[in-house]
Amino acid sequence: MRKRTVPRVSVTIDGRSARIRPGTSVAAALLEQGRWDFRTDPVSGTARGPYCGMGVCLECEVTVDGRPAVRACIERVREGMSIDTSAGEVGP
Ligand code: FES
Repeated sequence: MRKRTVPRVSVTIDGRSARIRPGTSVAAALLEQGRWDFRTDPVSGTARGPYCGMGVCLECEVTVDGRPAVRACIERVREGMSIDTSAGEVGP
């Protein structure tokens, strides 16, 4: 019997390489990697993560390939994508 291989795309999450199934949302990819802290609220400094899962609440915003404020729940991963969760952090 032939073994089936699951296709994956290579992405970078905060500088670390990860292999994700094509078609996965960026939010699901981050959660799969154990990440719940997608950004830091610029006012309160609290960690924020996905809430609505359908592009409405903006809690899941990350930087993708240098584009800030991308809603991770409605963006799909693609080969070579760079995902940065540090945008929106409060400076020192
Ligand atoms: S989880 Fe609400 S916009 Fe993405």
